Parts: sequence; structure tokens; C-alpha cells
Amino acid sequence: MSSDREVSDREIDAWVIGVGPGNPKQITVEAVDAIRRLDGVILLDKGESTASMRRLRTDLLDEYAPDTTVLVVADPPRDRRPEDYAAEVRRWHAARVDAIAEAVDRFPRPAGRAPVVGFLVWGDPSLYDSTLRLVDALAARPGWAVTVHVVPGVTSASALAAAHAITANRIGRPVHITTGRRLSETAATGEDQIVMLDGAEAFRGAARPDDTIYWGANLGTPDEVLISGPVARVADDISAARADLKSRVGWVMDIYLLRRPDAD
Ligand SMILES: C[S@@+](CC[C@H](N)C(=O)[O-])C[C@H]1O[C@@H](n2cnc3c(N)ncnc32)[C@H](O)[C@@H]1O
Repeated sequence: MSSDREVSDREIDAWVIGVGPGNPKQITVEAVDAIRRLDGVILLDKGESTASMRRLRTDLLDEYAPDTTVLVVADPPRDRRPEDYAAEVRRWHAARVDAIAEAVDRFPRPAGRAPVVGFLVWGDPSLYDSTLRLVDALAARPGWAVTVHVVPGVTSASALAAAHAITANRIGRPVHITTGRRLSETAATGEDQIVMLDGAEAFRGAARPDDTIYWGANLGTPDEVLISGPVARVADDISAARADLKSRVGWVMDIYLLRRPDAD
């Protein structure tokens, strides 16, 4: 679509697109449509992503939009043990927005309209992902005109429930989505917990031995591993599977649901 109006260099149509948690078939038709309409993609390389995780996104582009422009933005370095944690997070956050702004400045601009720029997000953009926050921060900067659209994706939480063929909640009950770091704050409620971002096996300290854990790693990839059972019985199997994935595949991303045996 072209128009005669003046388009500023700082105007973009930003599409934040969830592409699923690892299985290239777990991408929605809406996401494919959106990818095909992009002028290009800004790939945020968040450091923790390994080559094979990056490959999922580049393979999707090769398949659905082979001619699109791809700009890779490296995540700026972050001090993980700063004296002033809040100040360091603010500085790092601003540096990430700067990096995106620089990439947008390098973006080829179509005549007469704002470029349509995609951000491909692992899983779903609404869960434990900062892309939308960064794009919103760019939109809030003076002089920028950013229209933000979001396309939902399959989250690893639903991929986990599907892989184990379970519901995420018990009848009429809540399910709490949290991180390994904060599991101890809510595990004692006895409600179901879905735990992401747990590199330290927080279930060992926070769960009861007879809680059932439904665990999944590298879901949707050829190296997917599923383990379920009472925590006391399967905790060591989970540790062994994590170590095996790390040495054999080079990366492990795992998620689990903890369920206290009783109600239902
Ligand atoms: C930064 S969060 C991103 C979550 C993502 N936005 C989503 O909707 O799944 C990364 C965490 O998601 C979970 N995760 C993502 N992909 C996964 C996969 N294929 N298998 C298992 N866990 C996964 C893990 O808990 C991992 O630590």
C-alpha cells in the first residue's frame, strides 16, 4: 500500500510474532501470513539462544519469506552482579532499545509507507519474553511512530500439556505460571504450578515428595524428553536427562507442571 503522505524515518509497522516453542509445525497460519507480509525481520539474539534455537527462526524465514531482509541484533552485555540491580536493569533495557533503534535506522525503507518490521518470538510473546516491552519502549521514545501488532504463538506451557496429554488445571481450579526462582513463594498453596526458566531444579526444594511433576525438555524438537511421576521418584531421572541433553545437544530448555495429589 502506498500513499502520498510524508513518512518519517522513524515510523514503522512492528509485528511481534510468536513462532512456537521449537517445532516448526507449531506455527499458526496467522503467523505465516504475517511473516509473508513483512519487509524484513529484526532478530534479537539474546545470548542464551544457541545456534539450533536461532536456526528455528531462520528456517521459518527460509521457508515462508526467503527474500526478506534479516537484521540480527546482538543483545548488549549485562552485568549480572551489579551493585545497584535496578539501575543496571534500566541501563541494560535502554541499551537494548538503542540496539533495536539502530537496526530500524539501517532498515531499507519502502517508498511512500512505513516499513513492516517483524520480531520473531520463541513460543508466545505474552509469556516471559521481553520483545514486546522493548518494542513498546521504542514506541514511547520521542520522534518515533511505531504501530504495534502481536500475533500469538503456541507457548511451551501448552506444548508441555499436550505432550503429556493433560489439562493444565484441575476442574474449576487455578493454575499458576511462574519461574524456578519464585516457585518457593507459591508451591505451598497446593495449586498447580507451571514452572519456566528453571535452570536450578527448584522443584527439589519447593515441591513435596509426592507431588506429581510433568516435566518436558526441548519440546517439539527431535530431542524432546518427557518424564512424569512423583517428585521423589523421578527427580534424579530429570537431572540425568538435563545433563544428557546439555552434553549431547548443547542446550536444554525445560518446563514442568507440579500437581499435588488430592482434589479432582
Ligand atoms: C524466556 S522463556 C520464553 C517462553 C516462551 N515465550 C513461551 O511462550 O514458551 C524460556 C523458557 O520457556 C520454556 N521453554 C521454551 N521453549 C521450550 C521447549 N521447547 N521445551 C521446554 N521448555 C521450553 C523453558 O522454561 C524456558 O526456560
